[in-house]
Amino acid sequence: MEIKRAKISAVGHYLPEYRLTNFELEKLVDTNDEWIRTRTGISERRILKDPDKATAFMGAEASKEALEVAGVDPLEIDLIIVATVTPDYMFPATACLVQDMIGAKNAFAFDLSAACSGFIYALTTGATFIEAGNAKKVLIVGADKMSSILDYSDRTTCILFGDGAGAVLLEESEDETGIISSIHHTEGDTNCGLYQHAGGSLHPASHETVDAGQHSISQDGRTVFKKATIGMADVSLEIMEKNNLSADDVTWLVPHQANLRIIDATAKRMGISSDKVMININKYGNTTAATIPLCLYDWKDQLKKGDNLVLAAFGGGFTWGAVYVKWSL
Ligand code: ACO
Repeated sequence: MEIKRAKISAVGHYLPEYRLTNFELEKLVDTNDEWIRTRTGISERRILKDPDKATAFMGAEASKEALEVAGVDPLEIDLIIVATVTPDYMFPATACLVQDMIGAKNAFAFDLSAACSGFIYALTTGATFIEAGNAKKVLIVGADKMSSILDYSDRTTCILFGDGAGAVLLEESEDETGIISSIHHTEGDTNCGLYQHAGGSLHPASHETVDAGQHSISQDGRTVFKKATIGMADVSLEIMEKNNLSADDVTWLVPHQANLRIIDATAKRMGISSDKVMININKYGNTTAATIPLCLYDWKDQLKKGDNLVLAAFGGGFTWGAVYVKWSL
């Protein structure tokens, strides 16, 4: 039986124009530029200010760019998966809104919720549809309007996140390049504290939940930091071992951008030098599901066919994983 493989055939992105700098945050909360830069690596992040636009808009813009680059008509798309924790609505899925906005009438569409690991979970899921012969062209979107769930009086969270979207088009690969291998993990222990308490079916929105500030992100930063550092490094080594990749074989590490110190620790454990690590956290902060496709977008002109990329992420759930991609463009 012929084995099909999916490849990334185009990348698109969307970033809001407004830059929220550390200096501006100094005016909102008791923080300072030096603390934020040295503890996280972030200097500024983008914020979607237009109240009439949200995650679906950003995801649609990123998707349109990917389709334009590939020269693919939206009507050819079979499937759209949007990874997000900031959907426009509880339902319908943001992917349905994206389908409408880009005119992909023939696609079926659904959302995937895996927080900061959302993009790599979605990438594996989309690739599987192609490998099984159930789809030919798939859009994978990572998009989050994190500013919609941040409390800008909480200095421990509001400094970390930004808004943005990235999208990749998946098509069938005709050669040995493409999505080669994936490893994903979950540890559903919410006691470790990285969640949005209210707004779901357990704690529906009420005056009490709003008054208690339970609709914004709550996290135990130190625990998340430790877990993310270990999880991202472990799974990156795991995917290298599974595919017999040495540090020299890895052309690029494409890490989720949560904290520069987590990224540095992962690269160190893999034995790869910092010039092989994609880092844009300084400009965009943590855009949750969008960080990895935004890296691919920023580095697309430097990537060469056959480059070995290790995509790695850790996020709420907890969820984490790594994907080995042999670049196809
Ligand atoms: N400005 C100034 N001081 C601050 C700020 C701030 N914005 N935030 C916290 N502090 C203070 C604390 O109150 C504390 O003061 P104390 O020593 O008097 O008690 C001190 O700085 C040190 O606080 P820590 O929490 O120990 O600082 P740490 O070095 O752990 O950095 C951070 C905090 C940046 C949140 C880090 O823990 C982190 O990045 N965690 C991962 C969180 C994350 O990325 N979550 C996103 C989702 S999951 C993911 O994407 C991996």
